[in-house]
Amino acid sequence: WQTHLPWIDAIQGLKKQRNAVILAHNYQPPEIYHTIADITGDSLALAQQAARAEAKVIVQCGVHFMAETSKILCPEKTVLIPDTAAGCSLAESITAEDVRLLKAKYPGVPVVTYVNTSADVKAESDVCCTSANAVHIVESLGVDRVIFLPDKYLGQYVASKTQVKVILWEGSCEVHERFTGEELRSYRRAHGNVRILAHPECPPDVLLEADFVGSTAAMITHLNERRPRRVVMITECSMSDNVAVEFPDIQFTRPCNLCPHMRRITLPRIHDALLHMRHEVQVDPAVAGRARQAVERMLAYGR
Ligand code: 13P
Ligand code: SF4
Repeated sequence: WQTHLPWIDAIQGLKKQRNAVILAHNYQPPEIYHTIADITGDSLALAQQAARAEAKVIVQCGVHFMAETSKILCPEKTVLIPDTAAGCSLAESITAEDVRLLKAKYPGVPVVTYVNTSADVKAESDVCCTSANAVHIVESLGVDRVIFLPDKYLGQYVASKTQVKVILWEGSCEVHERFTGEELRSYRRAHGNVRILAHPECPPDVLLEADFVGSTAAMITHLNERRPRRVVMITECSMSDNVAVEFPDIQFTRPCNLCPHMRRITLPRIHDALLHMRHEVQVDPAVAGRARQAVERMLAYGR
């Protein structure tokens, strides 16, 4: 922590000077999440808060699609990402052209798109979703079939929770796909009383072994409600580091799968982003207008 303090002080000063707000995803490391972040949360909460932000500048401590979502919702604000290479394997798995081809193959079938996608892909979509509201949004469309993009595992999870037929894409999260059902069984063998919380980006055999499946924010709500004595969170491992601070009475078993993209956001890079006002996220206004409709439709549904 001693090495972090000068950066934290300098960032707090620059934040005031620039009239900036710092949004940090639940997967950001504790030295960002618990110090300089003004707003923390899952993808849905960050999108909701970006839409309400009063500051002139938004610094997105997360990955590129999250910064693009903020820019789509706040075109008049300056949105900065501290490292432009902070991508996402899901966002990279599909292009706007892929979506146009799918729509031609399945005419009239609504396209439900996970927010972990580029603005171009959102612009081709009818409605966005996050892991917090995917089932709810698919059901609220009142149709018997949807195209669900791009996460095949989240899509399969949604399909298991609804009567709606789900047409899938071959995308996956490089972090969550590494977990296995056998790994979860080994936690149970080691600690009989462990409560296993898993993110729906995990493969189906993992979700079958879990006691609870939900978004990063839903996992925190679950801990608040249930107060289990021992927990393992089957998701990006900074999440457990952050949550362990808030729940000192819970014992966390911590498998560590880090998201390399989230790790690109560091205190020095946040400092330089505010100092040099870089790297500004731009979305073509025509694309942003169409993508905004899909994101706002999701926000209207809420959680
Ligand atoms: P949440 O929507 O649960 O925050 O997840 C975002 C993400 O990137 C998961 O890998
Ligand atoms: Fe993308 Fe997976 Fe990283 Fe989330 S954890 S940002 S889905 S690569």
